[in-house]
Amino acid sequence: MKPQNYFEKHKDKIYEKWPSIAFYSSAVDRTNNFLENAQLLLYRNAFAAIIATLEARDKYTCHHSERVSIMCEKFCNALNLPSWQMQIIEVSATVHDIGKVGIDDSVLNKAGKLNEEEWEQMKKHTIIGEEILLKAGKLTSLAQGVRSHHERWNGTGYPDGLKGEDIPYSARIIAICDSADAMMSTRVYRKALSADVCKSELINGKNIMYQPELVDVFLDSWEDIVGDLYKDT
Ligand SMILES: [Fe+2]
Repeated sequence: MKPQNYFEKHKDKIYEKWPSIAFYSSAVDRTNNFLENAQLLLYRNAFAAIIATLEARDKYTCHHSERVSIMCEKFCNALNLPSWQMQIIEVSATVHDIGKVGIDDSVLNKAGKLNEEEWEQMKKHTIIGEEILLKAGKLTSLAQGVRSHHERWNGTGYPDGLKGEDIPYSARIIAICDSADAMMSTRVYRKALSADVCKSELINGKNIMYQPELVDVFLDSWEDIVGDLYKDT
């Protein structure tokens, strides 16, 4: 287990034993969150430009990032998350596939199934995305969501095979919205799936792909989160 994951898992006990760590840690957290949120405002337009570049190359995912971001923002509302966290998750969702700018056109736009080598290249978009964000600034929380948005609750995802609560919270939220958008959108090889099929696929993915409690909140708030986002598609 990574040291930061160990700390996250046991921080209540650590804080109970050494209250001063809790005090300084929350002060550092608040400062880092403030700095990161300030940087987000600075980089927002630059990220929007990179995503527009990506979507011009990859018509298959046109407006995908925007819809995933809209759903994530509403999902965060349903989860009653604080505004600083909501902002990080929303921007993280906007840029979750930013690493696809580093994937070859022949792979990115291939109509058929990817072979093993192509699939390995495609999977790298998570790591490339993280690298882009860390080069842009100390956007650590943002980068975590981007790196881990294809992890699965049962540990079979990529790039790190993280399992359960070791998966960053933002990535668990993005994963559900990302899947919902993929299902609700028309693709080259199939029409958009109905809301009922999408809902049952999310239920089937509980404990396998997604954190079950998050799927429950998503489905309970379906009208607020998904609403009529797909009425014109
Ligand atoms: Fe992705």
